[in-house]
Amino acid sequence: MRPKAELHLHIEGTLEPELVVELARRNRIDLPTFDVEAIRARYSFANLQSFLDVYYENMAVLRTEEDFYDLATAYLRRAAAQGVRHAEIFFDPQAHLSRGVPLEAVFGGLSAALKDGGMSAALILCFLRDRGPEEAEEVLRAALPYRERFIGVGLDSAEVGYPPSLFRRVFDIAAAEGLRRVAHAGEEGGPDYVWEALDILRAERVDHGIRAMEDPQLVARLRAERIPLTVCPLSNVRLRAVPSLRDHILPAMLDEGLVVTVNSDDPAYFGGYVDDNYEALRRELGMTDDQLDRIARHSFEASFAYEPA
Ligand code: ADE
Ligand code: ZN
Repeated sequence: MRPKAELHLHIEGTLEPELVVELARRNRIDLPTFDVEAIRARYSFANLQSFLDVYYENMAVLRTEEDFYDLATAYLRRAAAQGVRHAEIFFDPQAHLSRGVPLEAVFGGLSAALKDGGMSAALILCFLRDRGPEEAEEVLRAALPYRERFIGVGLDSAEVGYPPSLFRRVFDIAAAEGLRRVAHAGEEGGPDYVWEALDILRAERVDHGIRAMEDPQLVARLRAERIPLTVCPLSNVRLRAVPSLRDHILPAMLDEGLVVTVNSDDPAYFGGYVDDNYEALRRELGMTDDQLDRIARHSFEASFAYEPA
């Protein structure tokens, strides 16, 4: 198995239907169905929002520190089996705070799992862009007592209509705290979202970024500054950001000299973990070992743990 780092992974997106059912039973939560195949059968998405609706609904089963511990432990085990040697893991505290789950349970469970997990791993706190910049600032301030438990901040959830520029202040505060910065941009939003992520949020990596390819000047900037893009091929197909894997622009991104990485995004929903994404690129796009090795090398270079030799 090719060693790799995973840099675009939402821990809540690793919640497999089996764990949804187990946690619902443990927490005495009623579900529309306890049949894992019936849950999985709902995973057909028209776009990002239709996925997010199911993603937020399912995560209602996550209530206690133990639930977050079990979720992250299961991911780390699967990731190790897929050749992951280092993971930078997103989490969505607002999606839990808004349900009355305290930050202590989220941080407690996730950081204990990472400590016990036997893999190099770190947490990145994401702001839900559709909940607006004021709430993002509130959650960052509430998380600062846990400052040592996360390495950076990100921006996720519904993209179009919530441009990065709305979040300038909260990213400035994060930067002043010494936090690393990433942002989803150019998944459904256009190249202007990627420009704003770079210029206004001072993002050090762009999550997805596939639509950056529509703007040659932006491609030149990403290449010149070696700004990594965390591309998620199976996600893009499932959320219809691309018509099919065969149409994916990833090989062209690599040919442009961009620091492209391959990641799984929300593997419980999109039909595969990170190495499954690599394999799909080989199978559907005929990408070579050489190309896939380059992408895997990029993943370490693009990680916040990377130290040049
Ligand atoms: N949250 C979880 N997965 C996401 C994605 N692919 N885009 C935006 N927000 C997300
Ligand atoms: Zn994502």
